[in-house]
Amino acid sequence: MEKKFKRTTVTSALPYANGPVHIGHLAGVYVPADIYVRYLRLKKEDVIFIGGSDEHGVPITIRARKEGVTPQDIVDRYHTLIKDSFKEFGISFDVYGRTSSPIHHETASQFFRTLYEKGEFIEKTSEQYYDEEAHTFLADRYITGECPHCHAEGAYGDQCEKCGSTLSPTELINPKSAISGSKPVMKKTKHWYLPLDKHEGWLRKWILEDHKEWRPNVYGQCKSWLDMGLQPRAVSRDLDWGIPVPVEGAEGKVLYVWFDAPIGYISNTKELLPDSWEKWWKDPETRLVHFIGKDNIVFHCIVFPAMLKAEGSYILPDNVPANEFLNLEGDKISTSRNWAVWLHEYLHDFPGKQDVLRYVLTANAPETKDNDFTWKDFQARNNNELVAVYGNFVNRALVLTGKYFDNKVPTCGELTEYDRETLKEFANVKAEVERLLDTFKFRDAQKEVMNLARIGNKYLADTEPWKLAKTDMPRVATILNISLQLVANLAIAFEPFLPFSSKKLRDMLNITSFDWEQLGRIDLLATGHQLNKAELLFEKIEDSAIEAQVQKLLDTKKANEATSHTANPVKETIEFDTFEKLDIRVGTILECQKVPKADKLLQFKIDDGLGTRTIVSGIAKHYRPEELTGKQICFIANLAPRKLKGIVSEGMILSAENSDGTLSVIMPQKEVKPGSEVK
Ligand code: MF3
Ligand code: ZN
Repeated sequence: MEKKFKRTTVTSALPYANGPVHIGHLAGVYVPADIYVRYLRLKKEDVIFIGGSDEHGVPITIRARKEGVTPQDIVDRYHTLIKDSFKEFGISFDVYGRTSSPIHHETASQFFRTLYEKGEFIEKTSEQYYDEEAHTFLADRYITGECPHCHAEGAYGDQCEKCGSTLSPTELINPKSAISGSKPVMKKTKHWYLPLDKHEGWLRKWILEDHKEWRPNVYGQCKSWLDMGLQPRAVSRDLDWGIPVPVEGAEGKVLYVWFDAPIGYISNTKELLPDSWEKWWKDPETRLVHFIGKDNIVFHCIVFPAMLKAEGSYILPDNVPANEFLNLEGDKISTSRNWAVWLHEYLHDFPGKQDVLRYVLTANAPETKDNDFTWKDFQARNNNELVAVYGNFVNRALVLTGKYFDNKVPTCGELTEYDRETLKEFANVKAEVERLLDTFKFRDAQKEVMNLARIGNKYLADTEPWKLAKTDMPRVATILNISLQLVANLAIAFEPFLPFSSKKLRDMLNITSFDWEQLGRIDLLATGHQLNKAELLFEKIEDSAIEAQVQKLLDTKKANEATSHTANPVKETIEFDTFEKLDIRVGTILECQKVPKADKLLQFKIDDGLGTRTIVSGIAKHYRPEELTGKQICFIANLAPRKLKGIVSEGMILSAENSDGTLSVIMPQKEVKPGSEVK
């Protein structure tokens, strides 16, 4: 940070209001943003922290349609839930707005109009899929069909979820409208485009030369976008949910969600500061910082800056500290597969333990690469670090002070060599933590603070004041004075990271507030200052609590596997005469036994109406031989014989595979003559 700024506008990505928020959101965006803002506030800097919900876009309309409610119902529900979760975790927004608000519609509309009037857009007509029954153009997500790559049915116009390939709607085989089910037709439609190609020159210089300090993942992604060459991007869509395009001849068109959402940062600032918002967005002495996840990089580093530049009166972001992704127990977090730790559920399962999650997510922050959250690690960090180091040190210092000095800060006498060494070790912490926080290295910064607690913990363990109480009270006083000063320092240094615990600790220390500037000093608590009763800062998390969480995830996995069984797409269509080639018949089981050394196979002797035949079938995990003897089953009679474990199998017994993978043999509903054909 060479430039001197007067104030900082911090934004954090506006989450889509179509589902609750999970630990990935917290780790990727909101905890780091909150640490940063709390740090600046503690330093008494001028800062605002802008948040809010992103309430437009196609997925919200799809969800509403599925549930038979309006998009507004959906966003009302999740806006409130998300807002509450953030509040519970101490994410200290100055404002938490929403993009369906009138002030945002007005602001985004005006922004579009300004660019329109300045001639910053180009207009283009293209052909897009249109649903003639529903009388509407179809967003990519609203078109389904066969994937051109893996041939799964039900691929979306933008992506096939079976094989993961990115698609465009015209690539789908047999496209269908998800609204009416009809076959969509191509129809001309006009849209407005932001000609990013026109902006490429200054963007290259601004990012690649002037912002070499951006995180390597951010810089690298920008560079690769720029090197590929920028294309004009449509900023409008044919959709009925969003902000109407405010020009004539644009009926049925709304602003593209990625055009309006970042303007939401500005609208929300207006909501917070109706009279003075402009200085937070237009004064070159304001520093603008966007906290986002890596999937948002191009929008915040290229598209939004191009919009701001085109408008002409705004500043550009100074930094965009984007995080990579957090995985959960080795798998990508997924809302649709319910593979997540939802914040509202965490709060229910671990009440009062917000700081524990904040701590673990920062300790494992995906700052430079994707990282993994595991419940084991969560438990270990709580028990071995928060409880055993930080909590233990604080507790011992306070309890001993209570015991020997009636909860009053004792007098510091002469320092020993060891005292001096300890104090020296921690003298650099402030500068080091600042350097790390100023460069958005939250994980290392927190580690540094935890080190301070380690120093304190070791100091008490080494000096063992409890052993000196009988012989050398002045020495005990000195040790505890030093320890308490360290405890006070910890309350300051941890404040941005663990605000709830710092508050609790300040209450125990009987101090209402600290400044960041006091960090590193050893006279924070005056001799004789009255402390309050000690309480535990953290408590151990037992195995049973962790096992319950792991079990919850295992259940989710099982449920997902079950649905993926039933979700198998229907196979390619066949003609009737192909079907007729199959000879399916009913047979009566005469004998049934296990096949030795094959734990899945049963061997049958079957009366097929003409004689007997042998069939081997892989259902031994699902039936005991005696359950089936005497029963009638269906089998394919004209399948070429196959050898299984040395036995020639003359046909195949039909069974249905249930969603949990269990097999159920198909039986005729009434007894029939063996050899009857199944048609
Ligand atoms: N809703 C987007 C997402 O979750 C983020 C929007 S950030 C903003 O990926 F810039 F548009 F506000
Ligand atoms: Zn596919």
